[in-house]
Amino acid sequence: MERQRGPRRKRSKSSDRWLTRQRKDPFAKLAAKTGRVSRAHYKLEQLDQRFRLLKPGMRVLELGAAPGGWTRYVEDRIEPGGMLIAVDERPVSVGGGTVLLQGLFGTAEIDNKIDDLLQGRGLDLVLSDMAPNISGIRAADQARSMALAELAEAAADRWLKEGGSLVVKVFQGEGVEDWIRRIRSKYGAFRQVKPEASRPDSREMFAVARAFRAKGG
Ligand SMILES: C[S@@+](CC[C@H](N)C(=O)[O-])C[C@H]1O[C@@H](n2cnc3c(N)ncnc32)[C@H](O)[C@@H]1O
Repeated sequence: MERQRGPRRKRSKSSDRWLTRQRKDPFAKLAAKTGRVSRAHYKLEQLDQRFRLLKPGMRVLELGAAPGGWTRYVEDRIEPGGMLIAVDERPVSVGGGTVLLQGLFGTAEIDNKIDDLLQGRGLDLVLSDMAPNISGIRAADQARSMALAELAEAAADRWLKEGGSLVVKVFQGEGVEDWIRRIRSKYGAFRQVKPEASRPDSREMFAVARAFRAKGG
């Protein structure tokens, strides 16, 4: 029996733009060629090469892990003896040693699970690549992205050990300067970085804070 085809769905202009950009993007091409989960891999790799963030044996919390590019990168670097807790509301395929918490970070349920997993042991590194679903309303999107940066900051305040590091994706705009001022007051070293793999036309950048001073000490 011949399969009936429905009317061909027209792609939206924004998905056309995304496809064209993706086809031209050198890091998207490289990710496809080398079998990486996502082009985001290269952003973390470039940050790690510059700041030496990851070492074997580290305990790491990764917020906003799907589809898993950073997860795979972290897994390869913290073995042997490391621990990775990855959080996302979307599914992520993780390696054997990683604990995936599927749900929204910022809920008591996920916080309690992290407490149970850590049992009072501090983290060496908190990574956040969390991003909101973009609505196109700039002020609202910026407010939601700052709320996610604040969640990552709170995670570090709660679980990071003295001397630990925090890496957070933030978008340039309203609220970012105040947030950075606060982060600077809690860490011994701070850099604001745009890795080469971050699209030049995106307002995204990464805050890299190191030498956490626990309890503001
Ligand atoms: C840019 S993607 C992360 C890409 C990932 N780092 C990689 O390398 O493949 C952003 C992710 O943040 C997640 N996210 C946004 N808000 C979140 C929240 N409150 N809790 C958990 N995940 C969240 C989204 O579901 C999305 O998968």
